Amino acid sequence: MPLIIVTGVSSGIGQATAELFAREGWTVVGTVRDVERMEGHRWGGDVRLEEADFAETGSGARLASRVLEHHGVPDVLVNNAAALLFGPVEDATPAEIEQIFRVNVYEPVALAMGLVPAWRERGSGLVVNVTSLGGRMVFPFFAVYNATKHALEGFSEGMWHELKAFGIRVKAVEPGFVETPIYDKAMRGEGDLKQGSAPYRERMEAMVAFEASIGNRTSPEEAAREIRDAVFDESDRLRYPIAAYARPLIAARRWLGEMTVMRFFHKRWMGR
Ligand SMILES: NC(=O)c1ccc[n+]([C@@H]2O[C@H](COP(=O)([O-])OP(=O)(O)OC[C@H]3O[C@@H](n4cnc5c(N)ncnc54)[C@H](OP(=O)(O)O)[C@@H]3O)[C@@H](O)[C@H]2O)c1
Repeated sequence: MPLIIVTGVSSGIGQATAELFAREGWTVVGTVRDVERMEGHRWGGDVRLEEADFAETGSGARLASRVLEHHGVPDVLVNNAAALLFGPVEDATPAEIEQIFRVNVYEPVALAMGLVPAWRERGSGLVVNVTSLGGRMVFPFFAVYNATKHALEGFSEGMWHELKAFGIRVKAVEPGFVETPIYDKAMRGEGDLKQGSAPYRERMEAMVAFEASIGNRTSPEEAAREIRDAVFDESDRLRYPIAAYARPLIAARRWLGEMTVMRFFHKRWMGR
């Protein structure tokens, strides 16, 4: 059976992706921060849980070693787990920035690199980095999170070049808006909005309202099917905008020009 690692299967896109591949007969190694929380979850197939908290330095490399030792050489790695931080850049502490870069960039890259020697020896492998529409453009008050996704885009493109000669493919899947708990987990509550962000409060509240008003979000199951399509695409294509709004917004920036689109949204979001 083919073997796939999916990080962050406790909810959302990762969970739907793990379930989809498991139902289709793959062996899935899914990572969670707390295995006990997932007790009793019905996966619909062979999903083996491994604990990993990517906020811990070295967690990516340690996970790669554990997977190789206990499950064998995976065919595919889906770097899906990520944290979201909402708020103005001015409010973000260096420690918060460091932590989100660790979770979203440093450890996922280390995990992939930990698998490269085994893939190189075998002559094949596939890394799917789940980046974001926010890895192609930046939304106000999502800048820190979006910066991590831009960084992961950069690593993906660099890895695409460097690993191709070894038969290792790299893909960046860029979701638009998907109905998952990620925004609820990250949005600082009303109290936080009022605490540290006085000069930004009004625009932040407008952004929260805008975010809440987004209709037609893609379901995690549909996003998972698009990830599966990327996995099965044997071409060397790097970028896959998926889910609601990703393709039209990326196309708009290309065809109308970056500044036109930025000014349009700035007026809408920031009121001037
Ligand atoms: N939903 C969207 O609209 C959207 C848009 C663009 C990109 N994305 C990307 O899609 C991917 C999946 O997100 P989602 O929307 O499905 O959100 P989600 O439901 O919150 O899933 C995120 C997963 O990452 C895990 N995670 C968070 N912090 C972690 C840490 N320190 N160590 C290990 N795992 C950690 C979460 O585990 P816990 O349950 O323990 O927190 C969860 O399993 C992410 O890369 C996200 O950036 C989502």
